[in-house]
Amino acid sequence: MLALHYGDVYEHSPWVAEAAWRHGLTEAHDTPDALAELMGLMLQQASSEQQIKAIQAHPDLAGKAAMAGELTQDSTSEQAGAGLDQCSPEEFARFETLNAVYKEKFGFPFVIAVKGLDRHAILAAFEERLNNDKPTERQTAIEQIIRIARFRLRDRATSPAF
Ligand code: GUN
Repeated sequence: MLALHYGDVYEHSPWVAEAAWRHGLTEAHDTPDALAELMGLMLQQASSEQQIKAIQAHPDLAGKAAMAGELTQDSTSEQAGAGLDQCSPEEFARFETLNAVYKEKFGFPFVIAVKGLDRHAILAAFEERLNNDKPTERQTAIEQIIRIARFRLRDRATSPAF
């Protein structure tokens, strides 16, 4: 039921919504932030293997899939909202290099809640986070994914289609 409505709040990971449903929902979860908190808890409590799969379900930022128009609707609007579709050729090349170096080091793509950030801030965070060790970066990515889901739930609550 919840997975039907919110299965895509976590990119290609409907099991997060299913876990929240199984955990038990009350009227207290009837706001975007409360539901986001419960769904986030499900992801925080998941095994490290499941967490890594949830991170891996994300497309590269300013990556080839984005350029080919192959992203989910949410991902497309988030990336465009941060101006990532307007990168110069040099900036695209910078993202391509960083995406490759990051994935080589951590085994999952760089995920950041891009709302409110422009591409310069995103590139700065990208370079900074490359210095982290793997456990720190996994936890950072999970926190960012939870933030992304909170923004998505808030958007749905205020959009007429909700
Ligand atoms: N942050 C917000 N949306 C996305 C996305 O689609 N991919 C990645 N890697 N980070 C994001």
